[in-house]
Amino acid sequence: MALSDLKEKIKDTPISAILSRYLQIHQKGKHKLALCPFHNDKDPSMHINDEKNMFMCFACQTGGDAITFVSKFKNIDFKGALEELAGILGVDYQDYARERVASPKEEMAKKILSKSSQIFKKIAIENNPAPYLEFIKNRNINKNTIDEFCIGFAPNSNILSNYLDSIPNENEKKMAINIALEIGILKKDLKRENAYYDTFRDRIMFPIWDQYGNVKGFGGRAIHDYQKAKYLNSGESFTFNKKNILYGLNLAKHSIRDRDYVILVEGYMDVIGPFQNGFKNTVAVMGVGLSEYAVNALKGLTKNIYMALDSDQAGMNAMKRVNELFMKQNILPKIVDLSPHKDPDEFINSLGALAFQERIDKAQTYIDFEIQSLLPESIPETSDQKLEILQKIFKLISPLRENLLATERIISFARRIGLKSTEEQILRNYTNYLNSNSKYNTFTSNHSISDESNFSDLDSKNEINLNISEQIPEKLDQIYELTKYEKVMIKEIVQHPEILTHPKLKEILDHSSHNGVKNYILELKEIYFEIDDLEYFSIVSEKTNSMNVDLRVKEVAGAALFNYRPEKLEESVVDKFLTDLDGKLLKEKLKMQKDALKIKQKNCQTKDELNNILSELHKIDKELFKIKKQNQINS
Ligand code: UTP
Ligand code: MN
Repeated sequence: MALSDLKEKIKDTPISAILSRYLQIHQKGKHKLALCPFHNDKDPSMHINDEKNMFMCFACQTGGDAITFVSKFKNIDFKGALEELAGILGVDYQDYARERVASPKEEMAKKILSKSSQIFKKIAIENNPAPYLEFIKNRNINKNTIDEFCIGFAPNSNILSNYLDSIPNENEKKMAINIALEIGILKKDLKRENAYYDTFRDRIMFPIWDQYGNVKGFGGRAIHDYQKAKYLNSGESFTFNKKNILYGLNLAKHSIRDRDYVILVEGYMDVIGPFQNGFKNTVAVMGVGLSEYAVNALKGLTKNIYMALDSDQAGMNAMKRVNELFMKQNILPKIVDLSPHKDPDEFINSLGALAFQERIDKAQTYIDFEIQSLLPESIPETSDQKLEILQKIFKLISPLRENLLATERIISFARRIGLKSTEEQILRNYTNYLNSNSKYNTFTSNHSISDESNFSDLDSKNEINLNISEQIPEKLDQIYELTKYEKVMIKEIVQHPEILTHPKLKEILDHSSHNGVKNYILELKEIYFEIDDLEYFSIVSEKTNSMNVDLRVKEVAGAALFNYRPEKLEESVVDKFLTDLDGKLLKEKLKMQKDALKIKQKNCQTKDELNNILSELHKIDKELFKIKKQNQINS
């Protein structure tokens, strides 16, 4: 079985049965309706159609299949949505996911890693090594926990090297050893040719899994004082992307979902200690921090994050970063006070599970904790001092952008330090702060828009360089929402694919600011030339709902498909539409470019730079004026 089989299975299930898990669906005549969760809906505007197996909101024009619905509703990626849907359908996602065609190299790595884990465990249980028994006893780890976490032991006798050496088939052996070296569980012996030794020696072994329970690497804890690293961890490799892994997630995910919160900790033992004491909803970050992937994996399970990383400086720094990541998603993690202990394992072993639960119940949001630390003991005397503190608050809160969670806090803080300005003044100030900082930084962190080289090839006819997709870094493409006319373009093209045959289309697409839009339409174009009208709906639905289509594009195209009826437009109508569209898209793009330049202008350092920017702004204004004139003539 493969993921495509799971997709089929989802397709075979009436969408209303799936959506009823999330929405209250009413039957009204022939129609199934629900309040749309994607906008503030008062009167049910979401239509659910089991024949097409699609949903679509007539008010906010969001539509698509069950996978799109779940991705958007839960804010998770395509695969996450498939996993969630597997749960709803009562099938095991892993049965489908595992069968992804892995390369022979990946297959081998997987085999070696899981075998190694078994060997470490076997040694620990059968040989009863003294340091292992001592560790287990001192740390109060019970038999059940050993089994669940597969805690093993790596002796100082090259146990893995010997095992790999014993593979009878020469080719297979060679490949296995090379891969073992690559994933870092073997090391080359530099003194002898073609010789190697085990990386983990005399260590308590913790296998590290991905969220599906595949072993991806190891953490090995020292048992002697003379061992340099207290924990030795597998390095990054083609199978091990630490940022994407949360240690323990494979064991914790169901509990996280059931209890609707997660405890985020720092170390292996800080997962194991709480887990054994009933907190099965605990996972650890892998030192390097979290990726967006990991944040999304958690976010799909719960929005309630309790950070209980070590209370030392490193732990505090890590919590600050984790907090920011979640704030960007409008989630405010809480911080668990572990004092007087350093980590959850120590806390729980000394004060017990009840005390730990109390600390969780009392936890405050991290941002409020940070804000509090900025509050001066007495109200500052001068306004300048007050404004200076306010700037610091802006900085802390900025990942929330202009969410109410942010603005409410800003106003209340401003009052607490005795600022007398009106709410509007304060919030306008905050908006300015956001504009001049984060956006600007995203621009300049890659290549700046007025970078000499970018504009040096402007020709003398005063035409400006409109190749903005090359100037706007990838990130911006992700930040900006689709523009109004990009949405119009997607909708019209999906409903009237004959537009795809128009010779001017490609040129017009270059005036769209999102690569996701461009790619989608170009792919439709390719499909359109190869299929009959009769197949159009089913093939384009399939394409639209596939994994690599940008969700923002998907939901607009989904809504358009929902209303699709084969109805060809006359050529002159297409002509007029595309001409209008071209002007609108260009205008939107110029405005975006202008915004970017203005931000740059605010922050520019030299006079030359400023002159450059002003001349670019001037060119854009001229261009915008030209379009305006053109529109007046046309209408
Ligand atoms: P700590 O030094 O706080 O250890 O490191 P700990 O988790 O309390 O360990 P125990 O309880 O004494 O066994 C916290 C985490 O930082 C990583 C490990 O993931 C560890 O669990 N770490 C620490 C390393 O990767 N390497 C090190 O040398 C030390
Ligand atoms: Mn510890």
